[in-house]
Amino acid sequence: MTQQNSADIIREALALRFGESFAIDETLPGIDEIARIASRRVHRRYLDRSVEPALLRLLCACALSAPTKSDLQQADIISVNDADKRRAIADLIPDQPFIRSAPIFLVFLANGRRLPEIAKLRAKPFPNDHLDLFFNATVDAALVLATFTRAAEAVGLGCCPISVIRDHAARVSELLALPPRVVPVAGLCVGWPAEPGHISPRLPLASTLHQDRYDEGDLAGRIDAYDRRRAAIHSYRPRDPARWGAASFYGWSEDKARQYGVPQRADFGAFVRKQGFCLD
Ligand SMILES: Cc1cc2nc3c(=O)[nH]c(=O)nc-3n(C[C@H](O)[C@H](O)[C@H](O)COP(=O)(O)O)c2cc1C
Repeated sequence: MTQQNSADIIREALALRFGESFAIDETLPGIDEIARIASRRVHRRYLDRSVEPALLRLLCACALSAPTKSDLQQADIISVNDADKRRAIADLIPDQPFIRSAPIFLVFLANGRRLPEIAKLRAKPFPNDHLDLFFNATVDAALVLATFTRAAEAVGLGCCPISVIRDHAARVSELLALPPRVVPVAGLCVGWPAEPGHISPRLPLASTLHQDRYDEGDLAGRIDAYDRRRAAIHSYRPRDPARWGAASFYGWSEDKARQYGVPQRADFGAFVRKQGFCLD
């Protein structure tokens, strides 16, 4: 990417993403990386081309270089290489065929096990067995996932996180031999993109970037305006019309309200507790 190219890419990507124009300093250091971040998108279709094991290992090392709360290092990655295990996971989620077809499938784990084990090894008490342990491990895992994605995209790979594995958290944990206090946060499909994909518009920065205090402003008006802006770029296929009926206008907020209008993973807390985490 040339300097000019990168500035144009950023301007176009962020205009599409947020519906506003940004002034870009074309001499900004790291502008190529900023362009990649600004224009990133999920990829669910991949070329029939493998990812070199050495490259995957390098990307995992980069991912595990992410910041980690108090240097506690509470995230792990499992690369699911065994064909039977991959098939077993893919079979659980037939409506997401990319889990089967992606050249690489990773699972990012929140690890609340190592610390209490270290406490035992060093003959120390462990009075921090509460929600914060789970929360810190989950945040670490999310940062590792995000950093993996960024590194993968830097070399031209495409990724799709897969939280749906948590619909089958117990079975996935069994397949991956997860010990107590280690839980799956998300899977990740990785491969060489077969198509360019598209930029997904986000809520306006007026809604999500605040100055000094939280301020949602005219929430309803902003959501309506976002729905219209987004619908002008990509239309939606209405979710479950048999259940929810016809909508005079179908946008992002109608879709998300429908999505969260049915229970989702209501048993996940029970699973996490069963795995040994204390969530109090
Ligand atoms: C934690 C997490 C879990 C996700 N889980 C799934 C999933 O199970 N299946 C899927 O197709 N996409 C999944 N996605 C991808 C999102 O749908 C996607 O990021 C979102 O639609 C925005 O698109 P963009 O990433 O191209 O901006 C997930 C994303 C994240 C961050």
